[in-house]
Amino acid sequence: MLKSIVLLSCLVLILAFIGKYMIDFGVFRHIETKGLDKCRLIVAPDGDDLAFEDFAIDYQKGIAYMGGDDRRWFHTFNLLNQNIKKQGKFFSFDIESETFKQLNLINYPYEHLHPLGIDLLIGRKKQLFITNYRVDNEEIIGAVDIFEIDSSNENQLIWIDSVVHPLFTVPDDVLAIDDKTFYVTNIYRHRKDKSNLMHTIEVFSKRPWSNLLLCSKTNEWQCSIVVDSIALANGIGCSFDFKTIYVAATAEKRIRVYERHYENNSLTYIRSLYVPFLVDNIILNEHDQIIVAGHPNALLYVLHANNRLQHRAPSEVVIFLDPRSNSTFENLLLTNGELLSASTVGGTYKQKLLVGGFADPGILLCQDLM
Ligand SMILES: *[C@@H]1O[C@H](CO)[C@@H](O)[C@H](O)[C@H]1NC(C)=O
Ligand SMILES: *[C@@H]1O[C@H](CO)[C@@H](O)[C@H](O)[C@H]1NC(C)=O
Repeated sequence: MLKSIVLLSCLVLILAFIGKYMIDFGVFRHIETKGLDKCRLIVAPDGDDLAFEDFAIDYQKGIAYMGGDDRRWFHTFNLLNQNIKKQGKFFSFDIESETFKQLNLINYPYEHLHPLGIDLLIGRKKQLFITNYRVDNEEIIGAVDIFEIDSSNENQLIWIDSVVHPLFTVPDDVLAIDDKTFYVTNIYRHRKDKSNLMHTIEVFSKRPWSNLLLCSKTNEWQCSIVVDSIALANGIGCSFDFKTIYVAATAEKRIRVYERHYENNSLTYIRSLYVPFLVDNIILNEHDQIIVAGHPNALLYVLHANNRLQHRAPSEVVIFLDPRSNSTFENLLLTNGELLSASTVGGTYKQKLLVGGFADPGILLCQDLM
C-alpha cells in the first residue's frame, strides 16, 4: 500500500514536472494571429535559399544591412556534409523603396562565409561587425568579421579583420562600441558537433552556461567574460548613447538590461524585461525603443530548425516603448509562421516593420501596425 502511494506520488510529480516544462516552452500556447494581414514576404534576388537571422538599420538612410545564409547546418553544426553553398550573401535593403542590393565583398580571404548576427557602427566610417562561421582544415570556426562600407561605392564591403578567440564557443550576436571594441554573445557553451550530449543537456535543461564577452584591440585582440551564467545568450543591442545594453537570454524568456560604464566597459545589471516567448534578437529604433522577436513555441521551433519545409514555427514580435523605465510591451506581430516561420529579428522604420527568420528565406515587410 505504502509502496504504491510512493510510486503514485512520484509519477504525479514527474508528470507535473513534464507539464510545467512543456508550458514553459510554450508547447500548449494557443496562437491567435495578429498583424499578418498587413505583411508581405519579400525575397532577395537569387535569394530563395537565404534566411536573414539578423539585420542592422542605418536610420539616417533608411537602409537595413543583412547577411543571408542557407541555415540548414546550424542546428547540427554539420556544415561539411550538407549540400550547402560555401558562401552566404550580404544585402542592403532600402526600406522606403523596398529594394534589395547585393553587396560585393572586397578582400575577403576565406572560402566560407556563413553570417549570423550583425551590427552597424557609425563613426568616421561605417563598419559592419558580423558573427560569421567558416571552415578551416575541416574545422568549423566561429569568428567576428569586420567590414567597412566603402564610402565611394556603397555596394561594396571591404573586409578589415577577423577576430577569433579561445573564449568564442558559439558566437551569436555582436555589438560594436568603437572600431577597437565590441561585445559578443556565445549562445551555447557546448557545440553540438563537439559534444552532442552536453549540448542537448545545456539547451533542454535551460542551463545558464553561456556568456557575454568583451573584446578589445590594443596590438592584438583580447577578450574576457563580462557577464557569465546566461541561459542561451542571444541578441544584444544598446541605446543611442551607448549607456544601456540589452542582452537577450533566450531560455530565461527575458531581456537583461545593463548599465555600461564607459571607462572600462564593465556592465552593471539593472533589471529584466520579460516576454512570453524565447527571445532572439533585439533592435533599437530611432526613438530608443526596443523591438524584440522570438519563438512562442520551442517544440515547433526545434522541428522547424530540423526541417523548415515540413514544419512551420510561430513568430512573435513585440515593442517596448520605454524600455529604460517601463517593462510593458505591445504586440506587433503574432503568427503561426504562415508567411515566415521562426522570427529571429524585427525592426521598425517609420511606419514599417521588418522581420527576418531563422531559416525561412526573405524578409517580412509589414505596414501600419502601430
Ligand atoms: C569600472 O568602472 C566603474 C565606474 O567607474 C567601477 O565602479 C567599476 O568597479 C569598474 N570595474 C572594473 C572591473 O574595473
Ligand atoms: C507603462 O506603460 C504603460 C503603457 O504604455 C502604462 O499604462 C503604464 O502605466 C506604465 N507603467 C509605469 C510604471 O509607468
